[in-house]
Amino acid sequence: MKYSVAFRIWHWVNAVVVLGLLGTVFLRKTFLSWRDNSQLILQKLDAMSIAITEDQAVSLAKAIRAGMWEWHIILGYALAILLLYRVYLYFFDKREKEKFSSLSLHKKGVQLSYYLLYAVLGFMALSGLTMHFHSELGLSKEVAHSIKEVHEFVFNYVWIFVVLHIIGVVVADNTEEKGLISTMINGETNKIS
Ligand code: HEM
Ligand code: HEM
Repeated sequence: MKYSVAFRIWHWVNAVVVLGLLGTVFLRKTFLSWRDNSQLILQKLDAMSIAITEDQAVSLAKAIRAGMWEWHIILGYALAILLLYRVYLYFFDKREKEKFSSLSLHKKGVQLSYYLLYAVLGFMALSGLTMHFHSELGLSKEVAHSIKEVHEFVFNYVWIFVVLHIIGVVVADNTEEKGLISTMINGETNKIS
């Protein structure tokens, strides 16, 4: 068995959670952007001859976004728990693994992209929780804002990884690693060749 049941469940739950987190960011930056929506609210109310201030429009637009953004935090907690569980699996779920030194250059690169992803996700969870609890932790808004800038920058690794990872496993499954994707579903080592 290449992947245990626990590991496969971890992979797919983690994939859904990370895609969900990316989805909330996508919505925040597009359809639910407070910049765009506050302008839309101002225009539409103006057409109805209702005048409100720019600040009021911003507060309405942010209120519309709030319910969606709660999911960033909910999925954020889920990610933190999944990462702790991944650490547990690292120690207690030994699986057949080729030695890093015996891997091809390509597979070394793939492994490195996973290690880097784990470090990045760990950072996202720590920085995200720190921002969320900044007042409880006695941190100023300015500090929370600086953390947010780094959190937002490091987010780029996450989406780039996800795009390359999905393209990568689909290409590999169609070329020299036939059945690779189903090993992440049924756990068996690649038997089709
Ligand atoms: C939705 C489509 C996805 C498919 C078909 C897929 C498939 C796979 C497959 C086949 C592997 C094993 C590859 C190998 O042996 O190198 C793998 C590993 C991995 N996938 Fe995905 N994946 C998907 C989405 C994601 C997403 C969204 C994440 C988010 C972070 C993710 C994170 C990982 C990680 C971290 C590993 C390495 C696990 C380890 O060995 O420690 N995957 N995936
Ligand atoms: C895959 C992991 C994650 C990604 C890719 C991600 C991405 C992002 C991005 C891009 C932003 C900036 C949004 C913007 O201002 O346009 C953001 C903000 C934020 N994230 Fe995350 N995040 C992740 C995990 C987490 C976690 C685990 C938490 C903690 C529970 C969290 C909490 C927050 C908070 C509190 C903000 C600030 C929102 C605000 O200023 O109102 N994030 N995240």
